[in-house]
Amino acid sequence: MENKKIIYYKQIDSTNTELARLATKGAEHGTVVVAELQTAGKGRRGRQWESPAGENIYMSILLRPNCVPDKAPMLTLVMAYSVGEALKALGFSEVQIKWPNDLVLSGKKICGILTEMQLKDSEMDYVVVGVGINVNTSSFPKELQDTATSLYLESGIIFDRERLIESVAKYFDQSYRQFLEAQDLSFLKEAYNDMLVNVGKEVRVLEPGNEYIAYAQGINSEGELLVHTKEGEERRIYAGEVSVRGVYGYV
Ligand code: BTN
Repeated sequence: MENKKIIYYKQIDSTNTELARLATKGAEHGTVVVAELQTAGKGRRGRQWESPAGENIYMSILLRPNCVPDKAPMLTLVMAYSVGEALKALGFSEVQIKWPNDLVLSGKKICGILTEMQLKDSEMDYVVVGVGINVNTSSFPKELQDTATSLYLESGIIFDRERLIESVAKYFDQSYRQFLEAQDLSFLKEAYNDMLVNVGKEVRVLEPGNEYIAYAQGINSEGELLVHTKEGEERRIYAGEVSVRGVYGYV
């Protein structure tokens, strides 16, 4: 995937949507789409992703992985880990991961990841992994102020977004290779769990049609979050379906 093709847009609806369009026209594995502004940025669970111009990173990577569709949610964790590594390399040694796919600084969200998969005859056709990083934003809309932050707000430094994009792509390349070889997340489990903000905390598990409180322990090699319920039962939560919230706030 080295020497990736990076396509830059001044404005696009969503880098994920655009890359899916390009994928259906045959775009190559490793193609990256980056935009200055998204007019219809997408978040998880059908939410929108605030995407003002010129301050942040909106990027998506196209993968045509040689693995079964069940493993696609693991790519979200591979990306979360890779963004974590890139942020550590910039000096943000305290960066944490909120399972499965948010990066957190000072208890607030700095990055979100949206993985979308397309099947062909029930086999994997392609996967788009989209990454939104709050980089140089100096203020957020009121409704996000308590839960979102940016690299600039955390450090007072304006960052070069192009270099950070390259760095994320480089770390992702390395981890993606290891993932394909192992076909699981054993290679990053320990490092991921070291960064995990949820460890030892109460979380609210939001399964479709079912909500409960549990204690998070860490991920296993499949990227599932291991939790203990109040009744002492151990459960494994699969990243594809469920998200967790802190009981007392965002983390
Ligand atoms: C989330 O935390 O809800 C996921 C947010 C993902 C946002 C990124 S920005 C680049 C890519 N294009 C999109 O429309 N969404 C992702």
